[in-house]
Amino acid sequence: MKLFFTIASSILYLHVLAQKQDPSTFFPKNELMTIGTYYYPEHWPKEDWAKDVKKMAEVGFEFTHLGEFAWAFIEPEKGRFDFAWLDEVVAMAHQNGLKVIMCTSTATPPAWLAQKHPEILMVNDEGRTMQHGSRQQISWSSPVYRQYVAKMVEAIARHYANDNRIWGWQLDNEPSHYGQYDYSDAAQARFRTWLQTKYKTLDAVNAAWGTAFWSIRYNSFEQIRIPNPKELIAQPSPHAVLDFRRFSAEETNDFLVFQYNILRKHIPAAQWITTNLMPEHVEVDPTKITGLDFLTYTKYLVAGYDNGDGAQGFRMGSATSIAFANDLFRSFNGVTGVMELQPGQVNWGRFNPQPMPGAVRMWIWHAFAGGNKLVCNYRFDRPVTGGEQYHYAIMDADKKTISTSGIEYIKAIAEIKELRKQYNPTATAPAAYQKRQAAVLYNPDNRWEMDNQPQTNQWSFMVHLKRYYGALKQAGAPVDVITEEKDFSNYPVLVAPAYQLLDAALVERWKQYVQNGGHLILSSRTGQKDRTGKLWNTQWAEPIYDLTGAKISFYDQLPEQVQGKIKSGTLTYDWNNWADVLEPRPGTEVWATYANQYYAGKAAVTSRKLGKGTVTYVGPDTDDGALEKAVLARVYTQAGIRIENYPRGVMFDWRDGFWVGVNYSDNPYTVTLPAAAKLLVGEKVLMPASVLVWKE
Ligand code: GAL
Repeated sequence: MKLFFTIASSILYLHVLAQKQDPSTFFPKNELMTIGTYYYPEHWPKEDWAKDVKKMAEVGFEFTHLGEFAWAFIEPEKGRFDFAWLDEVVAMAHQNGLKVIMCTSTATPPAWLAQKHPEILMVNDEGRTMQHGSRQQISWSSPVYRQYVAKMVEAIARHYANDNRIWGWQLDNEPSHYGQYDYSDAAQARFRTWLQTKYKTLDAVNAAWGTAFWSIRYNSFEQIRIPNPKELIAQPSPHAVLDFRRFSAEETNDFLVFQYNILRKHIPAAQWITTNLMPEHVEVDPTKITGLDFLTYTKYLVAGYDNGDGAQGFRMGSATSIAFANDLFRSFNGVTGVMELQPGQVNWGRFNPQPMPGAVRMWIWHAFAGGNKLVCNYRFDRPVTGGEQYHYAIMDADKKTISTSGIEYIKAIAEIKELRKQYNPTATAPAAYQKRQAAVLYNPDNRWEMDNQPQTNQWSFMVHLKRYYGALKQAGAPVDVITEEKDFSNYPVLVAPAYQLLDAALVERWKQYVQNGGHLILSSRTGQKDRTGKLWNTQWAEPIYDLTGAKISFYDQLPEQVQGKIKSGTLTYDWNNWADVLEPRPGTEVWATYANQYYAGKAAVTSRKLGKGTVTYVGPDTDDGALEKAVLARVYTQAGIRIENYPRGVMFDWRDGFWVGVNYSDNPYTVTLPAAAKLLVGEKVLMPASVLVWKE
């Protein structure tokens, strides 16, 4: 117990100690973007290291990434640390002009630790204890695990303190349990403590969770367990599920901040600390990882899950994939990077196709277009052993032949280095582009809440959100994906797709935004519940009626094979996922009506002027997004803002004085360049899986 309190108080103490650094100081603007690669020297005989590192530099990489899954080598037995091997590789990197990203290898605790302390292992929803033999098998909530993490991180931080060969630090790896949640005793205890901190009293928990329903009512905090559908006969309390998702996200942040604070005690201010997050995995919430200098993301587009934008889309992924990650991660504090980028064919997909020739280079350029300061290729050499056999890399397994993606990297690196010569620090974004600036308001609470209660098998929050996001990109708008902390007034257009959970304060902020000239677009399911996930004791979603100028009479859903029809002027659209049926108040325009089903003639899309701006409500969620796209175009046009109409899969972004176009579609796209344009990379006919860069 005493040990527990010592750890707990040191955790508490550390949490107030460290200062986050200003991320804008880490990456000189004229370097634009820096490209490097993962390397695992511990996977290879020592004799290979020198030639591997030399090859990395020859390929053109500017940094390498070390120590990620190496705890068993850094601390081969309890308390005995060995940095000699790592020092050798750091020295080789330095001799070859490569900067080093050093990692804390907390995703892979050594065998001796689990053997000595099985209580650190996480427990999955089946009640099974995860065992040593892979990775991420531990509970971040375990005070014992944290004690060992603290010692290991402290040792590595002390060892590399003031070592200016280290560029920055990555904590853990893709912090998550890869689709699983932790139900261990340690997590149960921390969840209860989290609830106590949040709600103070048990009465407040009972009220927020509506525990009168099915007599769930708790008499003491000790009775509360993490809601786990696998140990419940029927539906868990949705409010409890929502709180558990929030807790898990905050616990991840807590674990990372715990490490951050230890590192910051030792390392120089010039070194940055980040982690690498999967941008769209439901159990990962980048918006809650607030305690690091900046965030980076990992991206694998071709693994048999994403069919992309045309017949060959499965070889390129969707254009909205890297774009969304760019616009979300950059928007946190202006700085982001891609810490892992797919190097070619992978091993873990639903099926593992070859990416389209050119796709890897296009992804690198797309990362550049979205503002990334670094791209780190995953990984330098092809693994010959272990769970990721079959995975591509820069080098083939003979360690002599450069892979097809390696060749694409070489090209992209050389192009970026050339581009630096063209950098003009005084360049400003073109006015027409800037005018189209939009924000998408994003709160994972909405995703968790609705995906827990989808109400139709056709509902997917991320797919819904991406319909709007994709339409904005097709309109040629620069987009920030923002959270509620941000000031809305910087954005002429604000889209809050399916914003189900809200409070009066947010509705008031939206109203102010619109009255001051903003154009707000809300969509299906918005405003139905309060922040605990409770439906309002009002008419359906009534708290937004005064804002939208329309009542939501009811919602409907159709079978997959039945098409609902919508009419807007002379045009017809299909829907069958979700439909909010609207009743406009006087003064609110109807932009589209339902054209079949028993409520034919009722409003599907409404819009009204309010103060200097407009509020538009889109009731349906369609499959092809055509209606959503048309509505956005009308909002822009009515606001006097000229937009583009790029085909799906073709995207253009402006960054640091350069226009970058990428083509994820099956068809060539001919770009009309202004007379003054200077073509820097690629051709005017933008072929599938290719890139075009120019400056004006
Ligand atoms: C990532 C992961 C890496 C590696 C890679 C393989 O998701 O962070 O450690 O496993 O996948 O594609």
